Amino acid sequence: MTLLAADSLRSPLVRLRGIGKRFGPVQVLRGVDLDIFGGEVLVLAGENGAGKSTLIKILGGVHTDFDGTIEIDGQVVRPRSPLEAAALGVAIIFQELSLVPTLTVADNIFLGRPLTRRGFVDDAGQRAAARRLLDQLGLDIDVDQRVEDLSIAQQQLTEVAKALARDARVIVMDEPTSALNAPEVEKLFGLIADLKARGCGIVYITHKMEEIERIADRIAVLRDGEHVGAAPAAELPPAKLVNWMVGREVEHQFPRHAGQPGAERLRLDGFSVWRNGRGNRPTVEGVSFSVHAGEILGVGGLQGSGASDLFGGLFGAYGAQVGGQAWLDSRPLAIASPRRAIDQGLAWLTNDRKATGLVLPLSIIANATLADLPRLSTAGWRRPPLEIAAAREQGATLALRAASLDMEVGLLSGGNQQKVALAKWLQTRPRLLLLDEPTRGIDIGAKREIYQLMNDLTARGLAILLITSELPELLALSDRLVVLHRGRLTAEFSRAEATPEKVLAAAMGRA
Ligand SMILES: Nc1ncnc2c1ncn2[C@@H]1O[C@H](COP(=O)(O)OP(=O)(O)OP(=O)(O)O)[C@@H](O)[C@H]1O
Ligand SMILES: [Mg+2]
Repeated sequence: MTLLAADSLRSPLVRLRGIGKRFGPVQVLRGVDLDIFGGEVLVLAGENGAGKSTLIKILGGVHTDFDGTIEIDGQVVRPRSPLEAAALGVAIIFQELSLVPTLTVADNIFLGRPLTRRGFVDDAGQRAAARRLLDQLGLDIDVDQRVEDLSIAQQQLTEVAKALARDARVIVMDEPTSALNAPEVEKLFGLIADLKARGCGIVYITHKMEEIERIADRIAVLRDGEHVGAAPAAELPPAKLVNWMVGREVEHQFPRHAGQPGAERLRLDGFSVWRNGRGNRPTVEGVSFSVHAGEILGVGGLQGSGASDLFGGLFGAYGAQVGGQAWLDSRPLAIASPRRAIDQGLAWLTNDRKATGLVLPLSIIANATLADLPRLSTAGWRRPPLEIAAAREQGATLALRAASLDMEVGLLSGGNQQKVALAKWLQTRPRLLLLDEPTRGIDIGAKREIYQLMNDLTARGLAILLITSELPELLALSDRLVVLHRGRLTAEFSRAEATPEKVLAAAMGRA
């Protein structure tokens, strides 16, 4: 009698073998093998551009032209569309959401696979079923609302509901928490535990180490389109995981070298922002603080705190719908429009690169130079060589990975899109940089490069206002911190004073 290896006793739900994929001349996946078992959370890890999203799009029927084979339950299959993949029991929550903005929540959940009654779409049945699903997820979302009116977080959770509606056995989540707040993340993790208990296989893609440590049963790693290995999570502690991902040792820490703060760069006195027009309550109300040259000032707060609106208000995104006073380098800051803000030395990296940060159909060069065209032109004439040089320089600083600088930004991996959004603002050589979630979707190695860059920039006298939902990042990078709750400033801490508990208490208005 022969002894079977433990692994061969369990047969995988999904078996990918020898997967290869090229886009034109660029080979992005090479001979990738991956097994997905029922009842497990498999984390798929790898640097920006390693091929994670591409691999799962092959499983999900989005890319149909590839090498290798897919087996589900031992049967070779070849999904030719997301609907076919869904019929095979595979649901994917894409990194770029795939909801139809103009349809309602209920219609999106049953899109392509409607509930029918006597041959007709059962609208009432769909709405009731959608409501049950959302309840199950503990979500307070109106099923009749149009998706375009939802926040990104609500859209992401609606995607989860859509996957559930399809009774999927394999559920792939590509960076699902990038726009979720802490309670929403808890909801999602609770749900993942339920799905696991029901025997579903979950593939989970993330760059957040805390998430990996919390939910991974097994981890598979891709590097440069190749499969490096897979191991039980317990056998792959963070340092080893990072080594597999980047192929060398990387310290994961925050290299903040605080310098001497210089002169006052920005000063706010009773500053308010009416994002929704003067008739409504201001979303930022009577805020006063200052930030100096060379300083990183963290702006803490939960969702709805007004921190992002504070940035938008300063940048003129809501026109002149602001009150109180703002000074930049001791001169009144003129707040009227983003163009005006850029001319005065402000730059604003928004937290939603798709909607407000990038023009996806345009090239890397066009995007990286978009905010700086006046300086890159002569008497109104564009100077392409200058634009190319600028994009090349920014790309190098940020370790951008792309086949070419002419590539459409929409075709870049998520993390590399984020780098282009950052490049666009660095290119304007700002005096005050407003960063809202700068490391969203950025891999662990590249995060360190961005922290280092923030150090270099502040050492040269730039002032930074920083929003990040990752508390360790906020605490480690900020020289000082202010905290907002419902638009009002509730606390100010030096770096030495700030602790997670104090910041959270202030963020909840309990300071
Ligand atoms: N439609 C496409 N056309 C051309 N190149 C593409 C296309 N889609 C992806 N790529 C390229 O394939 C490579 C892998 O991208 P992919 O999105 O799979 O990376 P990823 O591992 O998901 O990265 P991230 O962590 O940044 O999301 C990248 O170099 C990307 O630019
Ligand atoms: Mg991706």
